[in-house]
Formats: sequence, C-alpha cells, structure tokens
Amino acid sequence: MSKRKILVTSALPYANGSIHLGHLVEYIQTDIWVRFQKMQGNECHYVCADDTHGTPIMLRAEKEGITPEQLIDRVWHEHKADFDGFHVAFDHYGSTNSNETKEYSQAIYRKLKAENLIEVRSVEQFYDPVKEMFLPDRFIKGECPKCHAKDQYGDNCEACGTTYAPTELINPYSAVSGAQPERRNSDHYFFKLSDPRCQQFLREWTRGGSLQAEAANKMQEWLGAESENKLSDWDISRDAPYFGFEIPDAPGKYFYVWLDAPVGYMGSFKKLCNLRNEDRGARIEPPLDFDEFWKTDSKTELYHFIGKDILYFHALFWPAMLQHAGFRTPTKLFAHGFLTVNGEKMSKSRGTFITAESYLKQGLNPEYLRYYYAAKLNGTMEDLDLNLEDFVAKVNSDLIGKYINIASRCAGFLTKKFDGKVLPLAGNTLSPREEKTESELLEAGDEIARAYEDRDYSRAIRKIMSLADIANQYVNDLKPWELAKLEGQEAKLHLVCSSAMKYFAILTAYLKPILPTLAEQVEKNLFGVQFTWSNLSSLPLEKIQPYQHLMSRVDQKQIDAMIEANKQTLAPATDTHSQVRHAEAQQHAITPIAETIGIDDFSKIDLRVAKIVNAEHVECAEKLLKLTLDIGEEKPRTVFAGIKSAYDPEKLKGRMTVMVANLAPRKMKFGMSEGMVLAASGEAPGLFILSPDDGAQPGMRIK
Ligand code: 2FM
Ligand code: ZN
Repeated sequence: MSKRKILVTSALPYANGSIHLGHLVEYIQTDIWVRFQKMQGNECHYVCADDTHGTPIMLRAEKEGITPEQLIDRVWHEHKADFDGFHVAFDHYGSTNSNETKEYSQAIYRKLKAENLIEVRSVEQFYDPVKEMFLPDRFIKGECPKCHAKDQYGDNCEACGTTYAPTELINPYSAVSGAQPERRNSDHYFFKLSDPRCQQFLREWTRGGSLQAEAANKMQEWLGAESENKLSDWDISRDAPYFGFEIPDAPGKYFYVWLDAPVGYMGSFKKLCNLRNEDRGARIEPPLDFDEFWKTDSKTELYHFIGKDILYFHALFWPAMLQHAGFRTPTKLFAHGFLTVNGEKMSKSRGTFITAESYLKQGLNPEYLRYYYAAKLNGTMEDLDLNLEDFVAKVNSDLIGKYINIASRCAGFLTKKFDGKVLPLAGNTLSPREEKTESELLEAGDEIARAYEDRDYSRAIRKIMSLADIANQYVNDLKPWELAKLEGQEAKLHLVCSSAMKYFAILTAYLKPILPTLAEQVEKNLFGVQFTWSNLSSLPLEKIQPYQHLMSRVDQKQIDAMIEANKQTLAPATDTHSQVRHAEAQQHAITPIAETIGIDDFSKIDLRVAKIVNAEHVECAEKLLKLTLDIGEEKPRTVFAGIKSAYDPEKLKGRMTVMVANLAPRKMKFGMSEGMVLAASGEAPGLFILSPDDGAQPGMRIK
C-alpha cells in the first residue's frame, strides 16, 4: 500500500494559562495517533502553536507590566517544556503571532471579501469609559436578567444557566475597571455565514463523513432544517486596543482571535515547510510542499483533534472559511470529551486542577499518564475520568505487574547463562507452544493497528494486555527460575527465556506509540533493534544486552503530594481569618503582605454585608459561636465562627458585619457552615470582627 500523507493538529492552547492534565487528554491522544501513523511508515506531520491573541492576553500583560509579546514568549517556553515533558512530539510548535499566520489570515480575509462574503455593520456594544475600550462579553458583569443572581458574566448566568446578550444584564459593570459601561456604536466586520452559498456548503460538508456521528447530529441541530436559515453572520472584528492582526484596509480594526487561531494550523505548517526547505544541509526527509497539503484538490489527509467545546468553530466557521477562500477542508475532525478527576470537574480547591508542571515536578513518570489516558480513550466524545486510585492500581498492575514483569523475570537468565544470545523460535522442535504463542501475538497486530487507527486506544490496550497475560502464563507454566536450578535443562531454559523476550519485544512494539521513551530504552539498551509495525515477524533478535531497570511502580504518596501542591485555597482551616492571621503574627514580627493579585482574583470573593440576627454558644465547642446571618437571601445563613474568646453572643445580636458569601459550605461537627465572617487580629491578644459604616444594608456587596 502506498504511503499516506497526513497533516495532524491539536487545538492551539491559549497563551495565558498553564497546560493542565485536561489539556493533555488531547495532546496525548493526538501524539499517540501520530506516532502510530509514523510507525506504520506513513508520512505524518504534527503541528500546533500557542494561541496568542485577544483581550485577556493583552490585559494580563498589562497587569504584569510587560508587553504582550514578552508574555506570549514566556508562556510559549512554559508550554513547550510541558509538552516535551509528556513526550508530545510536534514536528513544529509555533505561535499564531507569526508572519505566516498573519499572511494566511489576511489572504483568507481578502478572498472572502472578494467573494462578497464580508459585510460591515454598526454594532452597539458596551464601552468602558475609564479603560477606553470596548468590553468583550466576559469582561462585563451584572445581575442576571432571569434569576437576578448578582455578578454574572455578560454572556451567561452561572446560577441559572441562561444565555443572553451583555446588554440585557441589570446594573452592568466593567470587570476591568469596575466602571459603569456605556453603550457605543462601532463598525464591525462580519463573515456572511447566512449567505446561501455558506449554508449549502455547510449542510453538505457536515453530512459528508468528516464528523463523528454525535458531532454531525449536533451540527444538523445548529444548521436547522433545509428551509430554515439558522446560521447568523459571524463577527470577525474587534476594535483597538486589541492584541492581534490588523484587518487590511480597516485601520483600528483587528481580527477576532478565533479568526486567526485556526489559521495558526496553516501558519505553523508553513513554518515547518520553510524550516525543512531552507537550509537543507544533510537532511534526508524530502522537501515539504505547503500547497500539496492545503490546495483545494489536495490528495493529502488533514485531521484536527479538538475538544467538543470548540466544535462550533471547527465544524462551521473553519470549513466555511477554507472553502470560500480556495483552500481544502479538513478530512476529519476528531472531537473528544472533557477530563474529570475522581468523577468531578477539576477543582482548584480540591487540588485536582493539576498542572502538567506539578505532575512532572513530583517525579511522576509521564508515561504513566499516557498509558492511563490511552486505556480510557475510545475515540468518542465521552468525558474521561482520571480516578487517581484507579490510576495507581492500573499502572502498577498492567505496566509493572504484567508487561515489565515478563522481561524482569527472564532477561537475566539469558545474559547470565547464555551470553545474551536469543534462540530463534521458528523450527525449534523442543515445544510447539512457543511458536504458536508467537504467532498469536503477531496475528493480533492487525487488530491492534485498527484500534489505533480508530483512536480506540482502550481497545488496543485490552488486546495488548490480554497478550501480556498469555506471555506471563507461559512464563508461569515454564518457571525459568526452577529450570535454572535443574541439571540438564539448559536448552529448555534458553528456549523459554528467548521466547519470553521475543514476546516482550512484540508487546513493546505494540505499546510504542503510547510509551515512546520506554520503548526506545528497550530498543536501544536491550535489543539493539528498532521496532516498526512491518518488521515484527522478522525482528533480528539475536542478542540482548544486560537488563536495566525499566520502570518503577507509582507511589500513592507522589499522587497525594501532587494534589496537595495543586490545592489553592482562599479559605483558612476555620471559619474566620483570625486564627490563621494570629498564627502568622506569632511567626513574624510583621506579617508580610501576601502576593499581589489582580482585580479578577479579588472579585472572585463575594463579600457581603451581613446582619447577625442570632448568635449563640455551641455545646462542647471551645472556640466557636454559631451565628445566624442575614444577607438579604430568603433564608439566613449559619456560620460557625472562631470568635468565642472575644465576644459575648448576646452583644453580637443585631450587629452588622462582613462575610464571605461564596465560600463552599463546610460540614462541621456541629452542622453546616455556610460562609465565613472576617475578623482582624494582630500580635497582641484580641480578635475584632468587621463592621460596615452606618447605612449599609444586609446583602450589599463589598468591593
Ligand atoms: O479553546 C481554546 O483553547 C482555543 N485556544 C483553541 C484554538 S484551536 C484553533 F482553532 F486554533
Ligand atoms: Zn440567572
């Protein structure tokens, strides 16, 4: 069969946050697929880049007192180190802030304009008069027009789930400056998706087999029935100040980040072509032709691995842009689900929002995670759960207990007793079992390859582990450790260990896309042979080198330490800040001012004026008072506060104070505590709860 030519991408991570284990589901999934394709002998290129544009990156750089270029450069290096750490082997990892991406973005835009698919319309939007900028929806907050929850984002309410336009918010305010935004008009550039040419093309494309069935159904829902015209035009421009590419012939207007982000796939590939083609020196790879992969009638394959949350962009906007700008469209989109940890959404307070860096810092082997994800990935859009107990159990039982166990029990006899020489199995008359087992292992190759091709890695692993069971059963039955003690059993011992090592080599080849560095160690240090899918039946395994330790068991303690390191909590151990502050005060003469935070971090804490409607002692509690607090809600809150030493409950009744209203409820011995009151303390004894000035009403927000 002729070599396939394949271009593969993963979604471009934003350059304003760290890579976490949720991101890695996608990069590991893609990397395994690419490595598998390369191992099959296909020409496969894997590109990605940092997604660098947009308002959040611009504002974050400003907050840090650096330029956006400095910020994205720093983050690029962090991201690259994380990907390298998990053996995600891009052929090129670029940045959307590149000349290549700029050129293709502008070329696509110009072509769409020439096709009469761009329209300029005046749009009314919120404008921050203090910051002098138009505000993206996420930077406007206010009261939900439906359920009246306070401080909801401009696009949807986290309390009731309603989506709305930011202009519908009650009492909106700018999350950047806190100012009350004004409504202002500005010209925006739209990609006319409602044009019949786009609608018709998308109807056909989304049904043409490029999408997983569940994604195709979703698209039909978005597109509506044939007679409907459900797609609205897409606003692709943003006003200055904006970090991005200026729109040609439109001063002060920039491409919206989602316009140039997917073009980053092209930009990064173009850069790879340039690097390959310039300075060819001693390169053995053939030159790379950009057009061969991107022109309209390309015979190559193009695959985008993405999360299901960005299907809309990749299945509607992106193919429509490509089609109408004269480029090829993707062969397939491979969408995956989200990561949960221990069955729940990743959470900073539980420590399950685990960064790639913190995983590696604990000395955890990245191939544990690659294996665990592979064992759970099945090529669908289902969510994937990282159950940390199961993670430890699975890695230890499968990788160490089944796979490594074969080599660690047999390799030593070969090197010690037979100078490492591996006997050929074919034609050996001692026992037919060895050959039969070898055939069984080799015959499974096609089935395993199909599972990899389908991205159903869990199926591949189930098969590989069932083969490892067969190999282990063989070793258990033949007991080389006993043969080694018996007179006259050398030939048998030699055959058994040679067979087991041959099985180990085949299993290693099957696991190589998932465990690339382990496989490389086995290839280089043990067998001195490189495994490909096609050479497995004729592997020249003549001699092995002395066995070296390949992989250790995962230690639960490392997992616990990693979770601890990722715990970010604003809440002290008890219900007031006072104990913690007090302990700190005893350690330092002057309590140091905590790390600088931005307004965004601060505004996450919902501080409210609270009326203490009741206060009472708690039986058996040395330090606590039970407070009943009115913050304007239907039902008052109960908070257990560690202020007994300083206050007579009777005197607190009727007083106003300040509470943290959005602290996760805590179950205490005495009942549920639904928040925290704030109190001041210093080196000297004493504890002082806060009071607002006269006139403050229960429920007022403090900011
Ligand atoms: O959702 C995200 O994280 C985006 N940065 C993904 C962009 S993918 C592609 F279109 F560039
Ligand atoms: Zn709401």
